[in-house]
Amino acid sequence: SRMKVVVCRDLGPDVMPLLRARTELDVVVWPEDRACERAWLLEHVPGAAGVLVMLSDKVNEELLDKAGPTLKVVSTMSVGYEHVDLPALAARNVRLGYTPDVLTDAVADVSVMLALMAGRNAKETMGVVQRGEWPNTSWSPFSFCGPQLSRPSPSSTRTAGFIGFGRIARATLARLVPFGITHALYTTSPGSAPSPAQDAQYTRQFSLTSVRRAGSLAALARGSDVVFVLAPGGAATRHVVDERFLRQMKRTAVLVNTARGTLVDAHALARALREGWLWGAGVDVVEGEPAVGSAHPLVQEPRCVVLPHIGSATTETRLGMATLAANNLLAGVFGEAMQAELDLKGRT
Ligand code: GLV
Ligand code: GLV
Repeated sequence: SRMKVVVCRDLGPDVMPLLRARTELDVVVWPEDRACERAWLLEHVPGAAGVLVMLSDKVNEELLDKAGPTLKVVSTMSVGYEHVDLPALAARNVRLGYTPDVLTDAVADVSVMLALMAGRNAKETMGVVQRGEWPNTSWSPFSFCGPQLSRPSPSSTRTAGFIGFGRIARATLARLVPFGITHALYTTSPGSAPSPAQDAQYTRQFSLTSVRRAGSLAALARGSDVVFVLAPGGAATRHVVDERFLRQMKRTAVLVNTARGTLVDAHALARALREGWLWGAGVDVVEGEPAVGSAHPLVQEPRCVVLPHIGSATTETRLGMATLAANNLLAGVFGEAMQAELDLKGRT
């Protein structure tokens, strides 16, 4: 008999045929071009062998219980997986596919873009043009000036800080090397031990004066000219950038969040920007998204560039992610090796 797979979003004409070509599968697809309705998903998931989900679809006990013992795999079209209850999957022997690597470059690109946009006052200055005010604004020596990402002189230094130092953070640092960044500081998950040998290797790899793990978040905040938030979401990293952190940043520094909104206390950030604790911010993610309206304090803040979670949104990358998610789903239902499977061992 045919196996059912439930797909929470139409993946388009380049990817859907990968699934539909498999005559062993009954492919059930959410028919609309918006987030899959929970009721629809719960109605269709019973008896499924696989489910392909987006970040917006919660994979929890409720969903897994509805799916029942036929379920072999959940494939998420995302690198993040905080919407997935890992212990619940592990307890049921359900495998998890996700999409690392294929989006690393796209998200690193946007991270650098936001650092530049935030530092160079893009929101305020584009607003001037949009509102038709350019004709009344004569070029002036010091108006619109912000901090420079590039090292201003060969004798000066520039430090980039990374909260989280995984694939995307390292790809972002690689992009900053030609800007003359001299030092990098990073923090990783509290459990992992500092490693001078690893730091020496990073220092050589990026050809910087030094790359080193910061002794504390406070040290990273105090020492960085630009801070990139690039750690996973979830309870363990909630509000790592809080009022305390923001008060410790340089007043000329820029904060970039291209990871998850939950890592940054949005209200503390809005206040910090208003009161000048740091210079500016660029965020691709905001806690509570997509319910981030024009009245949101960060959207209102002239020194905060806000993007609607588009870090991986290039044609090439989204196609890569959709293809990988489809292939992970197929590998899962047919019991084959997945191209990108999260190891759930020890997650129960
Ligand atoms: C995007 O945020 C992702 O997790 O892929
Ligand atoms: C709310 O948006 C918060 O970050 O606390």
